[in-house]
Amino acid sequence: MENSGPAWSPVDLIREAFHYQSRFEGSTMVFKIDYSVIEDPGFPYLMKDLALLARTKFRVVIVPGAKERIDAVLREYGVVSRYSLSTRITTEAALPFVEMAAFHVATRVMTGLAAGSSGGGKAVDAVIGNFVRARGLGVENGLDMEHTGTVDRILTGSIGRVLDQGGIPILPCIGWSPAGKPYNVSSDEIALAASTALGAIKLFIVTLDPGLNTPAYKLPETIQTGENGRIIRLTPLEAEEVLEMNLWDGAGNKALDELRLALRASRAGIERVHIIDAREEGAVLRELFSNLGAGTMVYTDDYEAIRPLKNRDIPDILRLMEPLMQQDVLVRRSPEDIQEKKDDYAVFEIDGSVHACAALHDWGEGQGEIAAVATDPAYADMGLGRRIVRFLMDRAKKQGLRRVFVLTTRTQDWFELLGFRECSPDSLPERKRRGYDKARRSKAYALELE
Ligand SMILES: CC(C)(COP(=O)(O)OP(=O)(O)OC[C@H]1O[C@@H](n2cnc3c(N)ncnc32)[C@H](O)[C@@H]1OP(=O)(O)O)[C@@H](O)C(=O)NCCC(=O)NCCS
Repeated sequence: MENSGPAWSPVDLIREAFHYQSRFEGSTMVFKIDYSVIEDPGFPYLMKDLALLARTKFRVVIVPGAKERIDAVLREYGVVSRYSLSTRITTEAALPFVEMAAFHVATRVMTGLAAGSSGGGKAVDAVIGNFVRARGLGVENGLDMEHTGTVDRILTGSIGRVLDQGGIPILPCIGWSPAGKPYNVSSDEIALAASTALGAIKLFIVTLDPGLNTPAYKLPETIQTGENGRIIRLTPLEAEEVLEMNLWDGAGNKALDELRLALRASRAGIERVHIIDAREEGAVLRELFSNLGAGTMVYTDDYEAIRPLKNRDIPDILRLMEPLMQQDVLVRRSPEDIQEKKDDYAVFEIDGSVHACAALHDWGEGQGEIAAVATDPAYADMGLGRRIVRFLMDRAKKQGLRRVFVLTTRTQDWFELLGFRECSPDSLPERKRRGYDKARRSKAYALELE
């Protein structure tokens, strides 16, 4: 594919990182870390990144999963587990082993943070605590669930005190009743309850799973996938659609379980839930400090929007267009030219920054010109160009235009993909023909709007 823009500069990256730093600083983020991640060679890097976040005024809460560790400890000590559907019954005999495994995992996280925050700067205090008030599940399907419990309440005051000191609270998968009786609680439930109780702006589900991708899973056509076929982002409605299209008969499917958890969190009011693969180095930082992200995001807020141009966007779109004007891919425009036709433009905004633009100029005779189409090279092939042009085609229809055309020197194939066909310059409106710059030798392409 032709991508005539320059490579993304490190300065752009720094700008974007500052943008996100100021936006999220002081916000609470919950990290549900799968046990497999703790066993992975990449775990120390993840801990280093989380310690770095805590040091830079992000409020980090960690909920480590311990399921596989509990399975292993019970096996090792010959304690047979019983289940009610897929929930383990934590018997009186199993409880000490479950506690041992849960705290072993929490300690591994604590050790990882201590190592991760060593060397330069103040060490980050990690605190394993009784942050979860639990109650027993009681009798389910005729079975006494014994020490298997659920979250009664997250003790936000105690967690808040650790966070206020710049520390990282670690919530093991054990909770206590007001009378001090311990219960084994699912770490998914704890992560969900903690995210909502603490008003987290993000929940990260950190796994080693490659996640939902094509062709392994059926995905609705509207859903955007990245280079590796992985879903980049989806709304809760789309997440529901994916879950419905991929009903799973066998035992637990991790990717679908993670999506189910993300959907529940997003329904519970968490604006952004990120499912990330810990093997991608720096995945958390990429997700936080660039809107290119990493992994799959389920979002409910105004993450992206196509909207009319505002005065303050003019420097941004000139920055997008400048290299293309230099290469004569786009006709040169000054800030004044853009200002004069401001209402013709639309911009594609992602997380508060402009990453694509285009304009629709009405030339009379029922014809409109699509012009100044430019996508930030760092955001190429993500559908921004297509969506902004379609937005302008809708606008053209609403304005009662019957035809849109484009004059292009190098992008004819792309417009053909959108349904445009080559046409004679003689079919263009009179006013446009008069101003037609023969020296540019651009070709005319048009699309009838009916
Ligand atoms: C052309 C342009 C707007 C496409 O933006 P984009 O946001 O990357 O486009 P989309 O994501 O909607 O579409 C990407 C698809 O178009 C294809 N494509 C991109 N540029 C293309 C081109 N010049 N010719 C043919 N196909 C092209 C990609 O390979 C990709 O195909 P796929 O969906 O099969 O993977 C962008 O490359 C750009 O800014 N180009 C320079 C400016 C320009 O030419 N403007 C048009 C003149 S007004």
